[in-house]
Amino acid sequence: MLSKAKNDLLTQTGPGTPCGKFLRSYWQPIATSQEMPIGGDPLPIRIMSEDLVLFRDDKDHLGLIGRACPHRATDLSYGRVEDGGLRCLYHGWLFDRHGNCLDQPAEPQDKKFCHKVRHKAYPVQEKGGAIWAYMGEGEPPLIPDFEFLTGPEPNRITFRVLQTCNWLQGLESSTDPAHTTYLHRRPPGIASVRSGNDIAALRGNDPPSISIEQTSFGTRIFALHNSPAGKKYLRVNNYVYPNGATPSTSTGESGYQGRWYVPVDDYNHYRYEFFYRHSEPLNKERLIQNHHENVADDHRHVRRPENRYMQDREQMKSGASFGGMGIYFPAQDAFAIETQGAIQDRTQEYLGSTDIVIIAVRQALLKAIQKVEDGEEAPWLQREPNKNAFADFICTSGYIEDHEDGPSFCRRVLSDKSRKTSPAQ
Ligand code: FES
Ligand SMILES: [Fe+2]
Repeated sequence: MLSKAKNDLLTQTGPGTPCGKFLRSYWQPIATSQEMPIGGDPLPIRIMSEDLVLFRDDKDHLGLIGRACPHRATDLSYGRVEDGGLRCLYHGWLFDRHGNCLDQPAEPQDKKFCHKVRHKAYPVQEKGGAIWAYMGEGEPPLIPDFEFLTGPEPNRITFRVLQTCNWLQGLESSTDPAHTTYLHRRPPGIASVRSGNDIAALRGNDPPSISIEQTSFGTRIFALHNSPAGKKYLRVNNYVYPNGATPSTSTGESGYQGRWYVPVDDYNHYRYEFFYRHSEPLNKERLIQNHHENVADDHRHVRRPENRYMQDREQMKSGASFGGMGIYFPAQDAFAIETQGAIQDRTQEYLGSTDIVIIAVRQALLKAIQKVEDGEEAPWLQREPNKNAFADFICTSGYIEDHEDGPSFCRRVLSDKSRKTSPAQ
């Protein structure tokens, strides 16, 4: 349970709010690369209650500037890309990607005052199939070099989905290891959409033992299950500072997703999904098809509150689906978090022992927000390129030896990895 003051602090991200200032200290994904191809059209962006326009200028450089024209507020996302910037349709003022006003054609030659007009502009970079913006003050840190952002291009693909609730509910769903064997459970014999069936075989009647440890990039989350075969099944997920997570999927060691939960405003957020597979290229065609079957053109899941998530109680009765909402996990997650309310009232909740990760993430965020409020630099900013790949990062799931637990399994895997990657003596 949280006090109202703390719940407000964690969930309000507009300009000038403490959490907004904190989240603006990090690069945030604002679109996928597929949405901004070379020569592509300007794209309206709303992030943390700020309305912006992402565009490529006529040299294909990316720019992110305020959507309202500083002259008299007409929407610049309808503007013309030309002459080194984006030109407003109303009176023709022209802005480059740095927010400079280059032209005011409607003003007489001797009355132009371009040099006095400064428009809002934020730096952008492309990485990992997404376009990222830095909306903070001062020198931007680095965008992390996680393998799911930097691995070979055929092994990665990025999507985004709009969810109609506060960002923290999204983050909490991905860092909550206790819900997987309930919400996402499937009857035996129904294979995972993604392949592999290990998680699906685990039933909610035997809850996992959950523990955490701190890492250089966030919090490592262990969920240890007793599998029906009598073996130990471990899932290692992560909370990634400040608004990311890497839930392991049923593809085991070879694949998982990186995720970012980015506020649109306090009542909506985008969930960025960075699919990644270490060992081989992804079947992108199948993933794209799966995405299009489940996510509509408005970026929201086809299953949504307006159609009661298309719940089919016959599916529940027949055992075809635990919740009667098909077998696409992300739509099940969307149901769980969107029905908590636009902003979950955390003054009215009962947390249990399996909510230790939820509590840890909130505490870490509250501490970090306080730091920024005290005038210190936001924690966890990475500025050193040689530390930016996070050597202690693991995201995996699978059976482990009887004598091992989560931490000892990870220590062994990490030391094997460092032995393989260290230069020969
Ligand atoms: S409102 Fe944009 S140029 Fe006038
Ligand atoms: Fe989930």
